[in-house]
Amino acid sequence: MNDSRRPPITDSSLALLAKGYAWLPDRRRRTTAPLVRARLMGQHAVALCGPQAVRFFYDERHVERGSALPGPVLSTLFGHGAVHTLDGPAHRVRKEMFLSLLTGPEAVAGVVDSVTAVWDEAVRSWTGRPSVVLFDEASRVLTEGVCRWAGIPLDDAEAVARDLVAMVDGFATAGPRHWRARRARARSEAWLGRLVEDVREGAVAAPAGSVLETVAGHRDADGLLLDPHTAAVELLNVIRPTAAVCWFVAYAGHALHHRPELRDRLGEDDPAYAVAFAHELRRFYPFAPFVGGRAVTDLTWQGEPIPAGTMVLLDLYGQNHDPALWEEPYAFDPRRFLARPPERDELVPQGGADRAAGHRCPGEDVTVALLSALVPRLARLEYEVPASQDLRIPLNRMPARVRSGFVMASVRVRAAAPAAARTP
Ligand code: HEM
Repeated sequence: MNDSRRPPITDSSLALLAKGYAWLPDRRRRTTAPLVRARLMGQHAVALCGPQAVRFFYDERHVERGSALPGPVLSTLFGHGAVHTLDGPAHRVRKEMFLSLLTGPEAVAGVVDSVTAVWDEAVRSWTGRPSVVLFDEASRVLTEGVCRWAGIPLDDAEAVARDLVAMVDGFATAGPRHWRARRARARSEAWLGRLVEDVREGAVAAPAGSVLETVAGHRDADGLLLDPHTAAVELLNVIRPTAAVCWFVAYAGHALHHRPELRDRLGEDDPAYAVAFAHELRRFYPFAPFVGGRAVTDLTWQGEPIPAGTMVLLDLYGQNHDPALWEEPYAFDPRRFLARPPERDELVPQGGADRAAGHRCPGEDVTVALLSALVPRLARLEYEVPASQDLRIPLNRMPARVRSGFVMASVRVRAAAPAAARTP
């Protein structure tokens, strides 16, 4: 084996923590090899990027996912026993449940109608307050909207929103954010586990066809009902990532602040532009850094050996900013998606390849539809952006977020532009 094919001796775990999202793209720029080799937590890792790599990575004959997820990520972000940890037929049966709940025009419209109704109500209260934090408000709106749609009764939307955000915010750190995330998960799983038991015992009526009814009655590949804990984990796998769309709503505030000329275009009620804007938010701003699995057998990628057991990473953030795929990748420009929609394995903020066969996010349509509905609403508001806040988005914090959460002061609803004044 020549030197470029050996795992490096020095461990890069600290470099990853120090550089965050920029670590893999930096490493890729410094190598002529078709993959990056590293040592992470003492293990040999390779990182891949690009549409061909997406197809290679998501082939179950190459990479298996279940055994690769670190315990601390399961105890915070996904939950033990989650769909993310399954492979093969067990994965396909569980995944089908998510796809039946989250895809198709009726399901997507159901979530969007519920969330936009809560948003429109919330905006009325923002106008009476000196200032609001967009990230926090959006997380509450999304939580209330998705729970109403899912048939999950809420006593305290604000507390639940805080817990859902904490689980996402604390998965990639060892500090207090991580322990907050663990406590939030334990609380949420206990609450939803009891709810599933109540539904099964008939003490609570789940609306017909709702997420709550479907998950409580779901039978896995072995023909058995999910145990209440796993059912709670999967209910959270619907409501937690929906609440996390607040990350992108706050990013939208950031984008409109830096590119104010886009506000009028967004306010024009052009669904194609709103979708293009949603795609560009998901491409440009940092959220999921990479996904990982383990080589199931000895593999070769573009002539490079990957021994069985190697940790294989797919660099999602790097691919979304790869100059080989995107013109001026570090410029925010929704027009890039107006000419043509993204190809399946090109834009990968929520994973790649076929969503039914692999682990690609089943909530992608919901995410795009929510952003396409909420961001034009945001663009139609008038507000001040106080200079006293910190609008930086440090790339070495995982997950990244606008530091101040995007504070808006003196929020007003904008008068509609007269039709004649609209851009063609
Ligand atoms: C905030 C926007 C979102 C981002 C950035 C995101 C990102 C991702 C990523 C990167 C994956 C893993 C793909 C892989 O392992 O290959 C994933 C999986 C998943 N996402 Fe999302 N997601 C988002 C929104 C949603 C929504 C709205 C839902 C549900 C309503 C959802 C439900 C799931 C589920 C259940 C999985 C596991 C799929 C599987 O293992 O087969 N996500 N998401």
